[in-house]
Formats: sequence, C-alpha cells, structure tokens
Amino acid sequence: MPDEKPSWMMHGITAEPIEEYLYSLLPPRDEILAEMEAAAAKRNIPIVGPAVARVLHQLALISGAKTVFEMGSAIGYSTIWWARAVGDGGRVIYTDGDRKNADEARRYFDRAGVADRITVHVGDALELLSEQKQQFDIIFCDLDKEDYPRALRLALPRLRKGGLLVADNVLWSGKVAEKNPTEASTKAIVEFTRQLYSAPDMFTTILPIRDGIAVAVKK
Ligand SMILES: C[S@@+](CC[C@H](N)C(=O)[O-])C[C@H]1O[C@@H](n2cnc3c(N)ncnc32)[C@H](O)[C@@H]1O
Repeated sequence: MPDEKPSWMMHGITAEPIEEYLYSLLPPRDEILAEMEAAAAKRNIPIVGPAVARVLHQLALISGAKTVFEMGSAIGYSTIWWARAVGDGGRVIYTDGDRKNADEARRYFDRAGVADRITVHVGDALELLSEQKQQFDIIFCDLDKEDYPRALRLALPRLRKGGLLVADNVLWSGKVAEKNPTEASTKAIVEFTRQLYSAPDMFTTILPIRDGIAVAVKK
C-alpha cells in the first residue's frame, strides 16, 4: 500500500492495519473503475471507494434488486457498481446537482457499457425523488449530510416492502460519537440515524466499513 492513501480510503473508524488488510484483499478493478478511483483521489471527489462499493453491489445481488434510486452520484462511480449488480433489464437512477459531474459520469457509463441501464437526472435529488411515482428496490443516500433527515422522510414511502435504504458516511469519521456535536453535518447524521433506527417499519444495522454504512430493510 503506498504511503499516500487515496482520499476515499481512510476514515479512522477501523484500526489502520485492519483497514489496510481489508483493502489489500480487494481484487483489482477494471480499467474504468480504476481510472475513476485515480481521478477521485487526484481531484478530491468524495466517492465511496471500492470497499463500500462492493458492499453496495453485494446488497443488490443478495436482494435481487432491479431498481435503484441513487441520491448523490457525483462522477458515477457507485452508480456503475449498482448498474452492474442489477443486470440486464435493471434500472439505476443517477442524480446529482452538478451538470459537469453528470457529463463526466455519462462518458464513464458509455465506456463501462452500462449507459442503457442508467437514467441521468441533474437537479436536487430530494425533489427528483419526490417526483417519482414508483417504489424502488434500493434507495441509496450519499448527499450533503445536512440533507439526510429530509432524504429519509422522502425515501421511506418510495421503498417497496423488503426494499433497502442504504446510506454512506453514517459514522462521519467518528464525530457522531461526540457528546454534544456542534457541526450541522454531524447533527444531521445523528438525527437521520436516530430516526432510521426508530422507524417502526424499518430494521436497521450499521456496518463500520470505511466511514460507516447504514443498511435498513423495510418490513
Ligand atoms: C459523496 S458525493 C457522491 C459520490 C457517489 N455516490 C460515489 O460514491 O461515486 C455527493 C454528491 O452529491 C451531490 N449532492 C449533494 N447534495 C445534493 C442534492 N441535494 N441534490 C443533488 N445532488 C446533491 C454533490 O454534488 C456530490 O457530487
């Protein structure tokens, strides 16, 4: 492992030797994903990285998901992992507020051969989700953290029974454990997680991988 760790890697949740061991186990990614990981590290784009991406992909495979709504897609790294998991006939909705991100993502989708499974929307992911008439197998939340509580309220009715609500960064570099968090982002994540655990129709766990992934199934 090189001394300079990519920005998507370390978050201080897991002990560093264990984190390095977990990353050393990961099989190499294909040319496109490797290029995206390098671009993200170079330009400080906050992608989930390969350890979390494999969890997302695995959750879709385990649950047989065919429809995924992604809130916060950036250059489309996690979107490609979802798109490969849903397979032929599956559908992934990409959303991001930044048109430049979407243009870059489209180029990666074409090269990765998954463009026909992905619908790209530019705009506020919360508004875009509230316009959806259908229910989804998986809704993935990776927005600005202040948006998490509102995203949760909008997402739950749009999740089918048995569907998964997945959210990244729910341990927020450990700041969620502060006694009296002052940062707006930390407070929002703590509130999101409290609401998710207390939602009567959801069963929630947190996987402390990288920066923490919340996984909740709708009962
Ligand atoms: C953490 S990045 C997403 C990374 C992506 N999920 C991945 O792992 O490849 C968050 C992205 O969400 C976008 N974003 C944040 N809040 C948003 C909102 N309310 N609506 C749409 N996009 C938003 C930002 O522009 C940013 O590109």
